[in-house]
Amino acid sequence: MHTQMRTDVIVVAAGSGQRAGGGLPKQYRLLGGASVLRRTLLRFLGQPGIRRVLPVISPEHAPLCAAALAGLDGVMPPVAGGATRQASVRAGLEALAQDPPDLVLIHDAARPFVSARLVADAIAAAAAHGAAVPALALVDTLKAVAEPGFLASGPDRDGVRSVQTPQSFRYDLIRAAHRAQAGANDLTDDAAVAEAAGHRVASFAGDPTNIKLTTPEDFVTAERRLLAELADVRTATGFDVHAFGPGDHVVLGGLRIPHAFGLAGHSDADVVLHALTDALLGTIGAGDIGHHFPPSDPQWKGAASDQFLAHAAGLVREARGRIAHLDATVICEAPKIGPHREAMRQRIAAIVDVPLARVSVKATTSEQLGFTGRREGIAAMAAATVRLPWVD
Ligand code: CTP
Ligand code: MG
Repeated sequence: MHTQMRTDVIVVAAGSGQRAGGGLPKQYRLLGGASVLRRTLLRFLGQPGIRRVLPVISPEHAPLCAAALAGLDGVMPPVAGGATRQASVRAGLEALAQDPPDLVLIHDAARPFVSARLVADAIAAAAAHGAAVPALALVDTLKAVAEPGFLASGPDRDGVRSVQTPQSFRYDLIRAAHRAQAGANDLTDDAAVAEAAGHRVASFAGDPTNIKLTTPEDFVTAERRLLAELADVRTATGFDVHAFGPGDHVVLGGLRIPHAFGLAGHSDADVVLHALTDALLGTIGAGDIGHHFPPSDPQWKGAASDQFLAHAAGLVREARGRIAHLDATVICEAPKIGPHREAMRQRIAAIVDVPLARVSVKATTSEQLGFTGRREGIAAMAAATVRLPWVD
């Protein structure tokens, strides 16, 4: 029955993340290469039964939010939150009033690990009970603070629960409750708002991994957890050669380097970026550069090769992979690579959008042996290491 119900999600992200520290508000900090808010929104997008997802943000953070939402389909334009979480939720509820849903899930942006099971259970529980929260039993014994530095017996552990989000409600019920409680101090969750308005709040099983990122340590733990999921470490190689031809410069590693010859090729003949592109494609079994950018296609004539490398890096990201390392070796007698090596690293790191420390560029001659030794052209070898989720 409830599958026909229209369900919207409010993701509250208007806080300032004081306890998490760091330069950015916690919901905009990167976690495993994507912002926390983006990760949280992605967990709801494409879930069965979800109609719309509404972020509630601080207007001060609008540029950060725009970056977090870039390219996401199905997210409503963000609305402005308030000075407390309670006020932010209320703003979200009012923003849905034009085209009200039957059910609403209210979720903290700071909980990016919310699972499909929790979302499904939240929908079902709201449909059945009108108000419901994910709850967990406590493992530690509770004490009351008797006076500063001293404790006294606290409530029985078995008689209490800790609660998470998404909390789920019939929309009319929670909107009316929030309106009625608008004068209250900060009620830190929506179950408290529903209860203050006289409703019974049901519970369903929470998920211990659905943590709310709160402290700096939470970020360290979360980063480790995401990295542990990327257990499929792949290494692949690439190789490319271009012959010298007429010209006054070569393009290597994305840099224009003056030289007595040019390199012949359909594109800009950047052997370094071509070898790196093939290496990256190799890590995800995505063919080779000629497959993606056929030399027979006139649009790649004279093309700058950074777009080939950026495309390969994009495919790795689409496969939910992270680039751990790129390594290239240029093989030629001339021009001298040493003076350009650092700039090449920087250029490559910028193209694939990884920290500089994850890119290495080296060069060697071939002791005047072979075609490179005879100065007939330049060769490059590359290796790429990528971490992917282990899926089979
Ligand atoms: N929140 C909000 N509007 C507020 C305060 C909080 O939308 N005025 C949101 C936060 O962005 C967060 C969620 O409510 O996603 C849970 O709040 P909390 O973890 O306390 O986040 P912050 O208030 O940002 O952090 P802190 O309390 O450490 O400052
Ligand atoms: Mg707070």
